[in-house]
Amino acid sequence: MSAGLFITFEGGEGGGKSTQARILAERLRAADHEVVLTREPGGSPGAEALRNLLLEGDADRWSPLSETLLMYAARRDHLERTILPALTAGKVVVCDRFYDSTRAYQGAAGGVDPGVIAALEDAVVGRHAPDLTLVFDLPVETVLARAAERGAAEARFESKGRAFHERLRAAFLEIARREPARCVLIDADRPVEAMSDAIWTAVEASLSKAILR
Ligand code: TMP
Repeated sequence: MSAGLFITFEGGEGGGKSTQARILAERLRAADHEVVLTREPGGSPGAEALRNLLLEGDADRWSPLSETLLMYAARRDHLERTILPALTAGKVVVCDRFYDSTRAYQGAAGGVDPGVIAALEDAVVGRHAPDLTLVFDLPVETVLARAAERGAAEARFESKGRAFHERLRAAFLEIARREPARCVLIDADRPVEAMSDAIWTAVEASLSKAILR
């Protein structure tokens, strides 16, 4: 493979994205692909430093617009130093969250002008959009129940209310509906194995397309 494949995992909280990203990375390696497993915010030393600034502290530490700009500073560093070199080397990049999270969290749920976010996408990501995005969907009841089980109140983003999670869910569903060529919706209210099989089916289809291109 010459051009690599860029796969992102997206969705609200508590859907098991990180577990599934790890399972996918192992499965790809077992099939002899070179894989870079990474995450946002973060994924490069500079972006990990920004991650700490973004995820720690009170829920209102940053305004949604400041948060957007910090996410995009982290994203640019992550692209330049981790994602693009790996794709150029023909690797598969598996990324836990990417720009759809900014559209949903800061845009739809946080109220940042979608035009500002679209302009940042153009300037910062440009033609390096993901080849495949797995959008995890979970009823808000389940999101809240899982957060309570984990005692997740410490995380800034998880301490927001039900309405916030409802807006997030609607935003991710809308992204998947609008971009069917890139996005595959994953029902996250299922056992781990059923989810990883659905993900593998979607990834195999993308790998075949990448070989043909
Ligand atoms: P996670 O490690 O649980 O995915 O946490 C990252 C948090 O950051 C999560 O609550 C979503 C949030 N986030 C945004 O609000 N905007 C973004 O662009 C990204 C990448 C993450």
